[in-house]
Amino acid sequence: MTQRSSLVGQGILVTGGAGFIGSHLVDKLLAMGAREVVVIDNLFVGSEDNLVEAYKSGHVTFYRDDAEFQTSLSYIFANHQIDTVFNCATKALNYSFLNPANAFSTNVTVTLNLLEFQRLGAFKTLCHFSTSEVYGSAVYEPMDEAHPKNPTTTYAAGKAAADHAVESYVRMFGVDAFIVRPFNNYGPRQNYKGMLAGIIPITAWRILKGITPELHGDGLQSRDFIYVYDTVDAVTKLYSVLPAGESVNISTDNQISMRDLLGRICREMTYAGEIVNKPGRKSDVLCHNASNEKVHRLIDYSLTPFEVGLRETLDWYRQQIGVQ
Ligand SMILES: NC(=O)c1ccc[n+]([C@@H]2O[C@H](COP(=O)([O-])OP(=O)(O)OC[C@H]3O[C@@H](n4cnc5c(N)ncnc54)[C@H](O)[C@@H]3O)[C@@H](O)[C@H]2O)c1
Repeated sequence: MTQRSSLVGQGILVTGGAGFIGSHLVDKLLAMGAREVVVIDNLFVGSEDNLVEAYKSGHVTFYRDDAEFQTSLSYIFANHQIDTVFNCATKALNYSFLNPANAFSTNVTVTLNLLEFQRLGAFKTLCHFSTSEVYGSAVYEPMDEAHPKNPTTTYAAGKAAADHAVESYVRMFGVDAFIVRPFNNYGPRQNYKGMLAGIIPITAWRILKGITPELHGDGLQSRDFIYVYDTVDAVTKLYSVLPAGESVNISTDNQISMRDLLGRICREMTYAGEIVNKPGRKSDVLCHNASNEKVHRLIDYSLTPFEVGLRETLDWYRQQIGVQ
């Protein structure tokens, strides 16, 4: 079933590698024995702080640059021998409510740029990061990889378009590209600043800053939260076995409602104050219940219990933001 040899000894480019998942992936690749990891990130949300551990290896080169510019990728491929690219660059979902067109085009342009370089022989393998958001609200559950793509935001529409681009380049040109599709990730280094932050970081930040946490809508919308370490572990294992042109969900089997999630964060942070109810966000997906049958079939898939991951994550925010 092996599709590719190991990542050990490879030159690897991670787009968006100073971000949340990307930086954990960089750490994992270095720990696995990558020869060199090159990061391109425009620091739209990412931070070099996320690469502090990685820098210690002496095998990381960071470019603060924009993967939407072909020329910015061009000089990287000219100066580094890259075997594999992990495409993590994106602008957060929330940004699509502010700048819908750019949220869309970033997802598409970066991916098309990489596919063109790959088609012309600049590197061998592309691992493209999709998102569960491409499915939209469930037509059937649990959602497997054949679930229709019904994006409800321009962020997800751009991601869906990028997925189709990857699949079509595989069919047309036989490039070695595959798609991993994480569901909601949480863990250390997830951005907690500003309106682009996700629910766990923003709630932790609010509580630590003495600001009342918020719940949008009735709180019954649910998500499947996976610990970021489990995601990068799965991605590096899938690298060896996922055939070109295929995609795979990466999630847990645990649905949690936003109301329940907020309750757990408050309990964990010993916050007993009020929670402000805000109107629901237009086009919020109601439910994301994944099928993990495929990922279980492909790899040895180990998952951290949510309460353990959540506790470690909240500890990290306490250290970063300051103690209550
Ligand atoms: N976090 C999640 O819950 C989740 C869920 C499903 C899928 N994903 C996917 O995983 C990947 C990583 O997500 P993340 O949570 O780490 O997001 P993130 O925002 O933390 O990281 C994305 C990084 O891309 C950088 N970036 C944005 N535009 C860029 C550009 N034009 N050129 C170079 N860098 C650019 C940002 O600065 C950021 O560091 C994304 O493709 C995302 O769609 C994430």
